[in-house]
Amino acid sequence: MIVGVLQEEAPGERRVAVTPETVTQLQKLGYEVVVESGAGAGAGFPDDRYEAAGAAIGDAVAADVVLGVGPPSPERLDALRPGATLIGLLSPRFSPDLVEDLAERPITALSLDAVPRISRAQSFDVLSSMANIAGYRAVIEAAHEFGRFFTGQVTAAGKVPPAKVLVAGAGVAGLAAIGAAASLGAIVRATDPRPEVADQVRSLGGDYLAVAEPEPEPDDAPGTGYAKEMSDDYNVRAAALYAEQCRDVDIVVTTALIPGRPAPKLITAEMVATMRPGSVIVDMAAANGGNVEGTVPGERVVTGNGVIILGYTDLAGRLPAQASQLYGTNLVNLIQLMTPQRDGQLVLNFDDVVQRSMTIVREGELTWPPPPVPVSAAPVAAQPVERVAEVDDPPRRANPVLRRIGAAVAAAGVFGLIAVSPAALQVHLTVFALAIVIGYYVIGNVHHALHTPLMSVTNAISGIIVVGALVQMGTGSAAITALSLAAILLASINVFGGFAVTRRMLAMFIRS
Ligand code: NAI
Repeated sequence: MIVGVLQEEAPGERRVAVTPETVTQLQKLGYEVVVESGAGAGAGFPDDRYEAAGAAIGDAVAADVVLGVGPPSPERLDALRPGATLIGLLSPRFSPDLVEDLAERPITALSLDAVPRISRAQSFDVLSSMANIAGYRAVIEAAHEFGRFFTGQVTAAGKVPPAKVLVAGAGVAGLAAIGAAASLGAIVRATDPRPEVADQVRSLGGDYLAVAEPEPEPDDAPGTGYAKEMSDDYNVRAAALYAEQCRDVDIVVTTALIPGRPAPKLITAEMVATMRPGSVIVDMAAANGGNVEGTVPGERVVTGNGVIILGYTDLAGRLPAQASQLYGTNLVNLIQLMTPQRDGQLVLNFDDVVQRSMTIVREGELTWPPPPVPVSAAPVAAQPVERVAEVDDPPRRANPVLRRIGAAVAAAGVFGLIAVSPAALQVHLTVFALAIVIGYYVIGNVHHALHTPLMSVTNAISGIIVVGALVQMGTGSAAITALSLAAILLASINVFGGFAVTRRMLAMFIRS
């Protein structure tokens, strides 16, 4: 089959659905790729890079599988060939006219923003990829508007306090914003009705501000993985927290969202009025009605007291190369799922809840809205989907109960061995067993990120070779002296090399 890559039509849209890198991945799945001339220019991918990757430049609308970011115009939909499959961000929930229009055509249409938020679909969850980029960009936009450093400094010209940032809503975009603001050196605080995000907030360098005790889930509505509408009591307490924070912070980034509902209003005009002039608010929920009173979608507003409110709705697109790369990778992961034989033939499997949920129209038949997908806040066991894209998966850890049983069996084995060993060996084995226990607890309490520097510093154990070689050098034999010298040289390289590696790695964790 031929995959066509459209040039985006929406004004200001610089993203492209396929990058030169993902052209290669599509080819590995058996597809030919045709890219419209200039499709990648806005994201920094000129036509010749696509050609170098093996794509043809030509008429993408006539392809079997047509990929885009936003929805194509009616004229371009008219040009799709019968039986074609269109994949993009078609926003069926908010575009009933488009859904109606698509259903009148003999095509199949899949919308990437309808991917259910379940573990198995993470690798093609475009909304999360874009929210991650947008959260980062929200902080960059705020930093651009803010007239001061984010980080605190003590200079000859005076002391600069760090900026204070409040992030409301710690979902995908909020966590990205927390990480970006903290890495710029700001004091970051974040709040979210879901208390389970507190650890994630802290791990990114923020302080979690709890509003109230978690509200219990009704018995008949198990956790959905999404926030639900909050009670009046919660909203009153939250308003008090926002009022207090607005008086204190310099930057506010709001990301609060309850799927399918208008964005909750968190920051009132009165709260904005208490903020210092030059403070910046980025209302990421602007397109859904906004979390802040006074936000204008797509606009920069300056209030009477000099607070800047940014309601940009294209934050991910403001990093077009990055957004295109992640979007393209999400698309390739989806197409890989839909190409089980890797033979360049796209197969839509309606038994797969993910593919079913995304399908608006199947071969001219309206299939929107899809049946609801039961999603759980609890992690779902990942199904083995072999990905074209390289992803750093965290190592799998054994079940803790099994680990404990394994440790108990190993300990019993070592004690048995000590008991039946000759007396001379028993002392050494006891030291060995104790060393294992101490090592386990010492290394187990070191953060994973520091394991490599820790291991390289243990090269210093080779120092015992140096001691042994020095003792042997005094024997008078030329051969032993030569061997000792070689041993000292090699062991020294190991010891000093280990220290050098440790120093370089630790330097990466030290803030200048
Ligand atoms: P998400 O669902 O991952 O996170 C939303 C968070 O808001 C959740 O953690 C939820 O618990 C929290 N929340 C719900 N009600 C709240 C309340 N009353 N107070 C505080 N927090 C509350 O959503 P995601 O993907 O992070 O997106 C966040 C927002 O950013 C959405 O409105 C989305 O449309 C928007 N967005 C905007 C972009 C732009 O260019 N402006 C680009 C991408 C996303």
